[in-house]
Amino acid sequence: MAQAQGCSIFLVLFLTFSPGGAFYLYVVERCQSSSNDGHDAVLLDQIYFNKMLEGQYNSTVGIAIGYTEKAEEIAKILNKSPGFMRHQVWKTNLCKRNVPLAQKLLTPVEPYVWLRLEKAEYSQHQQMLICSAYDFYPKQIRVTWLRDGKEVTSDVTSTEELPNGNWLYQIHTYLEFTPKPGEKITCMVEHASLKEPNLYDWEPEPDSKRSKIVVGSAGLLLGLLISIAGFIYYKITSNGRMRVPTTEDVCPEETL
Ligand SMILES: *[C@@H]1O[C@H](CO)[C@@H](O)[C@H](O)[C@H]1NC(C)=O
Repeated sequence: MAQAQGCSIFLVLFLTFSPGGAFYLYVVERCQSSSNDGHDAVLLDQIYFNKMLEGQYNSTVGIAIGYTEKAEEIAKILNKSPGFMRHQVWKTNLCKRNVPLAQKLLTPVEPYVWLRLEKAEYSQHQQMLICSAYDFYPKQIRVTWLRDGKEVTSDVTSTEELPNGNWLYQIHTYLEFTPKPGEKITCMVEHASLKEPNLYDWEPEPDSKRSKIVVGSAGLLLGLLISIAGFIYYKITSNGRMRVPTTEDVCPEETL
């Protein structure tokens, strides 16, 4: 299983609204890295005006670039300014230094896995197993199916890793199959948060509903018998005989 791949993005956002709300300007500052030590970290400063990218500074390129005439003029001035250049180099170094810290904060989050069975529609197979992994981080994950311990590759489909929007991801993997007795089907999940792959076995319970009803009914009957026996026993021991209801018991006020 691959190690957690580092990818840190720090966003710094400056927003400026005009009084009429018709124009806005914003600057996005990013520190991107795909290593754990930050040696490859890139600083990217971008300036947008009314959603249009006007210009940017990319630390790999090392100069500011303007995409409009006005922005080009400004970029020229900035690139001649030792102060601006020094500041960008300082920020790039800060970005590189902070990547290991960010990597520590972004610890892997273990997925919550749910394995379930559904009827397969529009398929030659009778049933479909769905293995869903929820709320994991980082994105990289491997969800596979095993039949008696061997990887299954046919009749398998999967979604991509879907972002929840809160840095966490989910993925759903489907296996269409026709159940065979004695066969063990397993969903295997490999992720950076797990020391070893987690295995989730599918327990086929063909008659589980019926057997539950049988066990439940038998239990109910047994309980009923015991309580009747207990009631009879109580009556016998408390009165020394069994009381038979009389008219007096049934409607006592009528006799008065
Ligand atoms: C920064 O510039 C380098 C070199 O041109 C390029 O490979 C990289 O994609 C750029 N980064 C971004 C985030 O645009």
